[in-house]
Amino acid sequence: MFDDKLHSMVLSDDGSYTAYSKEYDEHYHSTKDGALYESLVKHINPAFEIQQNKDEINILDICYGLGFNTLATLYYHKKNNLKSKLNIYSPELDSSLVHSLKDFKYPSEFEEFKDIILQLSETQIYDDEFFHIEVFLGDAREYIKKFDESKFDIVYQDAFSPKVNKILWTKEYFSDIEKIMKKGGVLTTYSTALQTRLALYENGFNIYLNKGDNFRTATIASKSELLKHTLVDMPHKISCNPDVEPFRD
Ligand SMILES: C[S@@+](CC[C@H](N)C(=O)[O-])C[C@H]1O[C@@H](n2cnc3c(N)ncnc32)[C@H](O)[C@@H]1O
Repeated sequence: MFDDKLHSMVLSDDGSYTAYSKEYDEHYHSTKDGALYESLVKHINPAFEIQQNKDEINILDICYGLGFNTLATLYYHKKNNLKSKLNIYSPELDSSLVHSLKDFKYPSEFEEFKDIILQLSETQIYDDEFFHIEVFLGDAREYIKKFDESKFDIVYQDAFSPKVNKILWTKEYFSDIEKIMKKGGVLTTYSTALQTRLALYENGFNIYLNKGDNFRTATIASKSELLKHTLVDMPHKISCNPDVEPFRD
C-alpha cells in the first residue's frame, strides 16, 4: 500500500500515476503534463540530446522522490540502445517514501525495471554492467558537498517549488552544484522563475529555453555554450526587472 498519512497516489494526464505530498501541499509532477511525459521532456530528453555520446555519464538526480527521473533515464538508455555507463546519484530526505516505492503503481514503460525499483526501495543501491545507482537517504545540501569538483555531466533539478522548499533553489545551493558539474555539464529544471534563473546565471551558467510540444516551457542551464538552443537574454531580463534578486540561504 503506497498511500499513507503524507502521500497519496494521483493519476496524471498522460495516464501515469504521480503522488501528492500533504506535507508540502504539492504534486510530485505536473498532473497536466503527466508524470512520465514531464520527466522525459523536461529532463531526460534534453539532457541526453546534449550528453549521450559519452562512454560514461555521471548524473545527479535532485531529488529521488518517486524515482521517475532515474527510471526514465534507464528507459531512455534501453530504448535508444545506448552503450554509455550511467552512474546516478540521488538524494532523498523522505526515507519512508523510498521504502514505500515497492508498492507504487509505475507506468508499463518501467515494468522491465521492477527488480531495480525493488532493490532501490530496499537497499538504495543497484549495480550492473550499464547502471550504477545510489539513493542517499538524507539532506541534498549536505550530500552534494561530498562530491569531487567537476564530476557531473547532468543534473536534474527537480525539487518541490521554491515557495515550499527554497533551500534547494538558492544562489548558495547552485554555487555548490556548479562546483561539482563538469564544464560541459547541463542542468535541467521545470522552473522558469526569474529568481531561479538569476541564481544560476550569477553562478556562471548560461540560461536556455527548453521548448517543445504539449508541455510548459522549461529551463536548461549550461556552463558552456549550447549552439542549438535558444539563449535567454539575462542582461535584458535583469534590466527589465531591476528589483528581482535570486533566492538566498
Ligand atoms: C518534486 S519531488 C521529486 C520528484 C522526483 N524527481 C520524481 O521524479 O519522482 C521533491 C522531493 O524532494 C524531497 N526533498 C525535500 N527536501 C529535500 C532535501 N533537503 N534533501 C533531499 N530531498 C529533499 C522531497 O521529499 C520530495 O520527495
